[in-house]
Amino acid sequence: MIISGISVQELAEKYGTPLYVYDFSRIHENAQRLKTAFRSDDVSVDFYYAMKANCHPAILDVFVEEGYGMDCVSPGELKLALQAGVKPENILYTGNYESHDDLKAAFDSGAKINLDDISTLYRLLKIGTPEMITYRINPGKGKGKYEEITTGGDKAKFGVPYEKAVTAYKNAIDAGIKRFGAHMMTGSGVLDADHFPNMLELFLNELGEISSELGINFEFIDMGGGLGIPYFGDGETLDIEKVGKNTLNIFRKKVMELKLGNPTLALEPGRYLVGDTGIMVSRVTGIKEGYRTFIGIDAGFNTLIRSALYGAQHSIIIDGKENEAPSITADICGQICENTDIFAKDRMLPLTEEGDLAVFTQAGAYGNVMSMPYNLRFRPAEVAVVDGKDKLITRREVFDDYMSRIQTL
Ligand code: LLP
Repeated sequence: MIISGISVQELAEKYGTPLYVYDFSRIHENAQRLKTAFRSDDVSVDFYYAMKANCHPAILDVFVEEGYGMDCVSPGELKLALQAGVKPENILYTGNYESHDDLKAAFDSGAKINLDDISTLYRLLKIGTPEMITYRINPGKGKGKYEEITTGGDKAKFGVPYEKAVTAYKNAIDAGIKRFGAHMMTGSGVLDADHFPNMLELFLNELGEISSELGINFEFIDMGGGLGIPYFGDGETLDIEKVGKNTLNIFRKKVMELKLGNPTLALEPGRYLVGDTGIMVSRVTGIKEGYRTFIGIDAGFNTLIRSALYGAQHSIIIDGKENEAPSITADICGQICENTDIFAKDRMLPLTEEGDLAVFTQAGAYGNVMSMPYNLRFRPAEVAVVDGKDKLITRREVFDDYMSRIQTL
C-alpha cells in the first residue's frame, strides 16, 4: 500500500507499529471540497473544524490555512486552538455539563459560547455577561450511524430541548444579552444527503417560532457536523455537492419566509474533513486456530476504540495482498485483556500470516485522539506525509511517560 508515494511497509519499519499515518494533501482537498460545495454569492457561510475528531496541532494548522474556525469542547481544545492562531471570534465553544472553571476559560478567551443547558447560563453569569450567547438546541430528532453517536433526539444527553428554547433565550434577554446565535448537532456519520437540508428545515421552523415570540434575530445558525464518510460495508460516499446545494436552498427560502434577518450559516464537521486522511497500521502478531480463527494484531481498542465502543467496522487491508482473493474467514483482535477487543468478526481476508501488516483505513477521525494506555500498552506514534515526505509528528508513548506522572506514597 502506498500513501502519497511512500510505502506503508517502509513507514512501519521506520517508525514501528501500531502507527497512525496521515495524508496531508488529502486534508487540504477535503477542506477545499467542502468549501466549494457550500460556495454561495448570497449566503455567507462559516466553516468550523470540529477539532475533537483529530486535534493534532499540525492538522489544526491545515485548517487555519484553509480559513476554518474551530469548534472546541474543552478548555484544553480552546487553548490549543488559540495557540494555533485561531482568533477568538472564530472559535465556537460548545461544552456540556460545564464546570465553573470550564466556563471561565471560555469566557476569558473571548470565544463564542454555545450553552448546552438553561442552567449553564446562570453559572456563566456569575463569571460575566457575554455580549453574545448561543444555545445548542436539541430539535427533538436525530440521526447517526450508531445510536451511541446520535447526538440529537430524546435519547441524547445534549442540548436544550426545543420546547424549552424560548425560555432559554428569554432568560438570556433578561440577563441583558443582546446578540444571539443558534446551534444544533443531531448526529454523526450520516451518509444520507437529504438528512441535512431536512434537519435544517425543521430547525429553522423552530427558530422562526422563537424569533417571532421573542423578537430576536440570530446572527448565525449552526447546523453542526455529522457529514459521514463510508466505512467497511457502506455503499456510496456522501454526495456533498447535493448536501451543499439543497442546504443552501432551504436556508435561503426559510430565512426569507420566516423573516429571520440576515444570519450566517455555520457548519462544524470533523469526520468528513479528516476521517479518510488517516490509516492505522498494525502488525499481525499471531494467528490462532481456536474455537474460531483469530488474527491477533499489535493494536487494540487502546489504539482504535471505535469497534469496541460502537461496533464500528473499518476496512482492514493486508498490505501487499490487496489484490488476492479472500480465502479465510477470521476474527481480528487486539492484545487487550478484554473480550470486547475485537475489531471485526467473520471478516473475509486473503491468506494472512504472522508479520503481515494489517492496515485500518478511515482512521483519521476519532482514532488516535481516543487512544489510551490501558494494560500499559502505550499510545502509538503519528506520522504525516506531506509533499511526498514522511515526518514523525507524535512520538510513540513509552513506559517513562506513564511513570513521569506517578508519585510514590
Ligand atoms: N459539533 C459537535 C457539537 C459535536 O458534538 C460533534 C461530534 C461534531 C461537531 C463533529 O461531528 P462529526 O462531523 O465528526 O460527525 N467518536 C465518535 C463520534 C462522536 C461524535 C461526537 N460529536 C466516532 O468515532 O464515530
